[in-house]
Amino acid sequence: MISASKTLLVVGSGPGIGRAVATLFASRRYNNVVLVARRADSLEAEKAAVEQAVGAQVKVKVCAADITDPVSLGKALDEADAALGKPECVFFNAARVLPSAFFKHDVKEIEYDLKINVSALYFVAERYMPHLVSLAKADPSANKPALLVTSSALPMHPIPQLFALSLVKAAQRNMVQSLNMTYAPEGVHVGVINVAGIVSPDDPERNPTNIAAKTWEWFEVGKQFEVVI
Ligand SMILES: NC(=O)c1ccc[n+]([C@@H]2O[C@H](COP(=O)([O-])OP(=O)(O)OC[C@H]3O[C@@H](n4cnc5c(N)ncnc54)[C@H](OP(=O)(O)O)[C@@H]3O)[C@@H](O)[C@H]2O)c1
Repeated sequence: MISASKTLLVVGSGPGIGRAVATLFASRRYNNVVLVARRADSLEAEKAAVEQAVGAQVKVKVCAADITDPVSLGKALDEADAALGKPECVFFNAARVLPSAFFKHDVKEIEYDLKINVSALYFVAERYMPHLVSLAKADPSANKPALLVTSSALPMHPIPQLFALSLVKAAQRNMVQSLNMTYAPEGVHVGVINVAGIVSPDDPERNPTNIAAKTWEWFEVGKQFEVVI
């Protein structure tokens, strides 16, 4: 069902890019926000931050789930959809930064990172893409269906001391490119936010507030695969 109510789903909610994008996007367009991360206590802080920034008009639902567990993720998203409706915008932001030196890094850690960045993204895209396409078809002027993924320069410029994150980010970007080629013609904005360096509140360019502002500008235009920040 198409309604005026607009939901933003943030997969990988945290105090950095996740919070900055959630608060800015909610203040500009979304009256419903779903926040997914593993830690319930941190999610309450993220919820409070969005409510404080946007005010009483926003409804925020938090869902504690490890997205590497499809059963837990599916249950969380079922609850979110029932409470606030399926999202018009999916912001996929989860990752962990863990040093990975050759060959001290257990292969299980690579597989865990693949589950966060690739398997969980596949699960989320599979779940919501039909809905996003239906929104695009229903009213392309009123709806802005989107799947936006936070990425980095690692796919193009791997760092050997972070080889595991580099390789999973490369795989993730490759999948998002294929999704873009398949679903952009259907009217869904599928793209990556390429944060090309370390995020810090003190960095004049790559601070969460500026990253969110640049992400919003890029999203508003809605045509380009990538924004580089
Ligand atoms: N920070 C940087 O310097 C930097 C640089 C370039 C690109 N990026 C990209 O930016 C994105 C993250 O932004 P951020 O670093 O500012 O972090 P953030 O938005 O502050 O938080 C991301 C959140 O993802 C959640 N998460 C991680 N693993 C998860 C899992 N298995 N299941 C559910 N949630 C999970 C974590 O919460 P829980 O621990 O509670 O699960 C974490 O707080 C990533 O895609 C990263 O690759 C970051």
